[in-house]
Amino acid sequence: MEELDRLRREVENCRRCDLWKVRLNPVFGEGPEDARVMLVGLGPGYHENRQGRPFVGPAGKLLDSLLALAGLRREEVYITNVMKCYLPDNKATEEQLKACTPYLDRQIELIRPKVLIALGNVSASYLLSKFGMKPMSMGRMHRTIYRASTIFGEVVIIPMYHPASALRNPALKDVVKEDWKALKEGISPFL
Ligand code: URA
Ligand code: SF4
Repeated sequence: MEELDRLRREVENCRRCDLWKVRLNPVFGEGPEDARVMLVGLGPGYHENRQGRPFVGPAGKLLDSLLALAGLRREEVYITNVMKCYLPDNKATEEQLKACTPYLDRQIELIRPKVLIALGNVSASYLLSKFGMKPMSMGRMHRTIYRASTIFGEVVIIPMYHPASALRNPALKDVVKEDWKALKEGISPFL
């Protein structure tokens, strides 16, 4: 899609926040342009910065197996992040978020997914707020399907724990697995 390609080039040349100085490769996102399911993480880590692709490190490896639990293949979903450039401390400031999120907004408008899977707190908070809903802690948001109406029809937002938090906190891993298993049934009415 021409508009999506144009947006990608814009991101590749972007200097709207200070993160352009430390990035090796911006990570725009990838997947079918007509994907019904779109995954939104936080931002590129070490491996993503080197390869210019989302979720290619250890969290990405776990994500692949979690997708399988939900009956999804990586090739059929669109994967991107809230932030497009390397986050050295895995944290984005308000200012950086404000500078970068218009790119995600455009991506969503162009891809028009039916289901938005928000990976982690920052992504879930951003997406829920964007569509006029109130974010809570992930402990309260996970397993909830939020419906939003948009200019391109209804979209559901599903907050999920970030795969990296399951790696950091092994006690969470079973919860996360159960969440992804439940996702299979949960999203089927919306696809
Ligand atoms: N964590 C994220 O949030 N996004 C990636 O692309 C990789 C790790
Ligand atoms: Fe631009 Fe986003 Fe990269 Fe900042 S993080 S330089 S706003 S693409």
